[in-house]
Order: sequence, then C-alpha cells, then structure tokens
Amino acid sequence: MADSDTLERPQSAGKPFLSDVRTLRDRARKHIDGGAVTSTYGGDVNKTIDILQSVLATEIVCVLRYTQHSIAASGISSEGVRAEFKEHAAEEQEHMLAVADRINQLGGTPNFDPEGLATRSASQYAGQDGNLVDMIKENLIAERIAVDHYRELIRYFGDDDITTRVMLEGILTVEEEHADDMHDLLVSHEGKPPLPRH
Ligand SMILES: [Fe+2]
Ligand SMILES: [Fe+2]
Repeated sequence: MADSDTLERPQSAGKPFLSDVRTLRDRARKHIDGGAVTSTYGGDVNKTIDILQSVLATEIVCVLRYTQHSIAASGISSEGVRAEFKEHAAEEQEHMLAVADRINQLGGTPNFDPEGLATRSASQYAGQDGNLVDMIKENLIAERIAVDHYRELIRYFGDDDITTRVMLEGILTVEEEHADDMHDLLVSHEGKPPLPRH
C-alpha cells in the first residue's frame, strides 16, 4: 500500500477539517447500511426527507398545472403559449424526478400519493378553463412561490447537506427563468409595462 494512502494530513488552523484517507475508508466500510448517508452528513436526515416530500409535491403540482394549461389553452394567440407551458411541464418533471431520487438516496420513500398532494405542495394547482391571461398569472404566482421557498431552503441546507442544496440551486435557476418567461408572456398578452430597469 502506498504511503499516501495512510498519510496523516496536517490540519492548519482556521481551515475546515479534512479526514485522512484511512479514516474515510474505515468509516465507509463500517456503516455501509447507511447508503449515501455518512457520518459527516450535517443535517437531520428525517427532517430533510420531510422537506423534500413537500418539494416533490410542489413539483408534481407544477407538472399537472402546466400540462393542463398546455392542453386547455385556447384562443387566437395560444400556440406559442401552449408550447411554452409544455416545455415548462417537461422541466418540472425533471425537477420532480431529481427530488424523488434524492429522497430515495437519503433512505426515504418518495411520496407520489395523490391523496393530500395539494396540501403537501407549496404552490397551488389552479387548473383553468382556457383563459390565457389567467393561466399565465397563475403560473407566475406558482413560480414566485417556488422561488421564495427554494431560496429559503438553499439557505437552510447551507453546508449541512451540500448535495440537496446544489440540486435546489439548479432547480431555483430554472424556476427563476420560468417566472421570467411568464412575466414576459403577461406583458405581451396583457400589455402591462415590463419590469422596471435598475
Ligand atoms: Fe420545478
Ligand atoms: Fe417552474
């Protein structure tokens, strides 16, 4: 075995602690039943799973809402809007799957039960009967809820659960794009002035 494998690395003051290779290997071997959750996981796994179940419900509701809107949107200028809704539905589905995978990695069972879905979700379903502007408004509201919620969660996870945080950061970026897209659509369909420029 090479020397570097068992090397005790000097820890300099003020820097985050680094475990030596032997410690990492021993720990990994000892607790294999923990799967991806190791002793350096800084969060409360059960709390993380609970939070992610709510994020999962939020994403499922977003898939349902955008899908319903992409089909029910009607009117002379609905073609482009329907395409946009459809694209968003597909992206919400990617989020849904990523969150479900993460719950599974942490040892939880992703909850796809339709019973109670609307209560677990942060944003609302708000299915519509075809009015484009109402649809766009509901989607914009839902995106703004998701953006606020995920931003808070990113701060909450911090360095305690880096993987979950990084996943949520990726999702947040897309939700902000979605909100921006909905705002643009609202401007072009309702003639509201665009966002003030700073
Ligand atoms: Fe999403
Ligand atoms: Fe979104």
